[in-house]
Amino acid sequence: MKTLDKVVYQIYPKSFCDADGDGWGDIRGVIGKLDYIQKLGVDFIWFNPMTISPQNDNGYDVEDYCQIDARYGTMEDVEELIEEAGKRGIRIMFDMVFNHTSTHHAWFQKAIAGDPVYKDYYIFKKGKGEGVPPNNWQSKFGGPAWEYVPQLDEWYLHLFDVSQADLNWENPRVCEECADIVNFWYEKGIRGFRFDVINLISKGCFADDPNLFDGRQYYTDGPHVHEYLKRLNALSFGRYDDVMTVGEMGNTTIENCVQYAGADTGELDSVFSFHHLKVDYKDGNKWTLMPFDFMKLKELLFSWQTGMQEAGATNALFFNNHDQPRAISRFGNDKQYRKESGKMLAVVNMMMRGIPYVYYGEEIGLPNADFDSITQYRDVESLNRYAIMKEEGAAEEEILAILNAKSRDNGRTPMPWSDDENCGFTSGTPWLPLAKRAGEITVEKDLADPDGIFAAYKKLIALRHEMSIIQDGSFIPLLQDHPSVFAFARQWKEESMIVLCNFYAEETTVHAETEGYTLLYGNYEDVIVSDEMKLRPYESVVLYRKDVEAE
Ligand code: GLC
Repeated sequence: MKTLDKVVYQIYPKSFCDADGDGWGDIRGVIGKLDYIQKLGVDFIWFNPMTISPQNDNGYDVEDYCQIDARYGTMEDVEELIEEAGKRGIRIMFDMVFNHTSTHHAWFQKAIAGDPVYKDYYIFKKGKGEGVPPNNWQSKFGGPAWEYVPQLDEWYLHLFDVSQADLNWENPRVCEECADIVNFWYEKGIRGFRFDVINLISKGCFADDPNLFDGRQYYTDGPHVHEYLKRLNALSFGRYDDVMTVGEMGNTTIENCVQYAGADTGELDSVFSFHHLKVDYKDGNKWTLMPFDFMKLKELLFSWQTGMQEAGATNALFFNNHDQPRAISRFGNDKQYRKESGKMLAVVNMMMRGIPYVYYGEEIGLPNADFDSITQYRDVESLNRYAIMKEEGAAEEEILAILNAKSRDNGRTPMPWSDDENCGFTSGTPWLPLAKRAGEITVEKDLADPDGIFAAYKKLIALRHEMSIIQDGSFIPLLQDHPSVFAFARQWKEESMIVLCNFYAEETTVHAETEGYTLLYGNYEDVIVSDEMKLRPYESVVLYRKDVEAE
């Protein structure tokens, strides 16, 4: 399937729309909003996991891969969703969590009951001594990455929460089980697959981390990961030509991603990489406060764009997802220039080379949660981090300020639809409070505004669908050293595009060779195209030229 012409809308199902009043979003809620999503013009909807789960990590702790959690609905609802979306030209992408299962999963339960077949599905090791885990690796959600099982006198590995036990991909049965799950969902009509933290599945060795860190150098892009993906591909999605895949690749490299998402490597269609979303981590530590480093953001996006394109490999394009604070609060200006900066970020994301993702709420410029108390948070990572920072002696106020900027719950607050109770999300009690400014910013209000952010997304998506240059054109970095403007060109046959985006509230002027160019899109009125382009706060312009051969 051609992928560079696709645009994906991501729904965090728990927070999108609650049809039955239990405070959780559900599938019927989404079905009721399909017309809204269709208006945006996207090709796929990616759903975070909705299968049975104890919900310690909101569904990424899977208890049963092939049954829908009743709180989201039923298998019939999924079938209706696929059908109704299909009528609107939209395909459904599901999330496959294959690095780990919930400890409630039947495989794990059999494993700890001593069944050797299922024990080999997981990573059990002897400790180094009484009460001492096999190595010093840390879980990504805080604390040791190993948990002791007394009846086995062994420890199991969990790179994430203690309730998320890592699968043992060295056992070929694990890959076969995962392939069966993909095939099951394909049969149901699912046409997109997102593979959760899939570059962590090959654990190279189990040595102590000499830096007393989490051990990531031993399992990130591990020694057999490409082999495992090729096998999964051959046994499942690679058998169909109407499927799109994307892998989530934490801490990865361009060299590996060129393999993961290369044109003919037999692995995946595309990758999410995250380096560009760590430009506000002080010394690489997420739990700090720092304004984002614009030059670094630019350098990273440029190197990934050009590095992937040289190899014919494909990036997913995104500034938001369910693990990130809202980009508009992070890289834009969610107060005075909310609309301008929301649209500017949309331009960057939609006009680069790759597959753009729009995360629910992004299209109306929804900002961070702005919670006042730890009692409002639900995310396991945030709650663990709160406890760790408390223990280290940090003041409550400081911790809350950090969570306010960095917690994943910032990106998970319920969708504000209207002026109704709970902004029309639920008639019950929302599982997570709405963002503080949710009443001020709603879908209803944004849609009623001809100059709203939704309208900009719609327009940019339509352009992407219409124009080969946006899909297939090459990406050329521009103004590499400019301290406030993100600029690039796209080139396709006799067509050229120049994209100029001011990332700051200060006006600036840039030099560009604009002869023959006209304005394709701008987030301000009255744009004058010239070689000295004046860019107002968060202004972004897309210029286009088509050369006609002389007769
Ligand atoms: C991915 C998911 C995240 C989850 C983690 C463990 O990073 O996006 O939400 O917590 O994997 O499954």
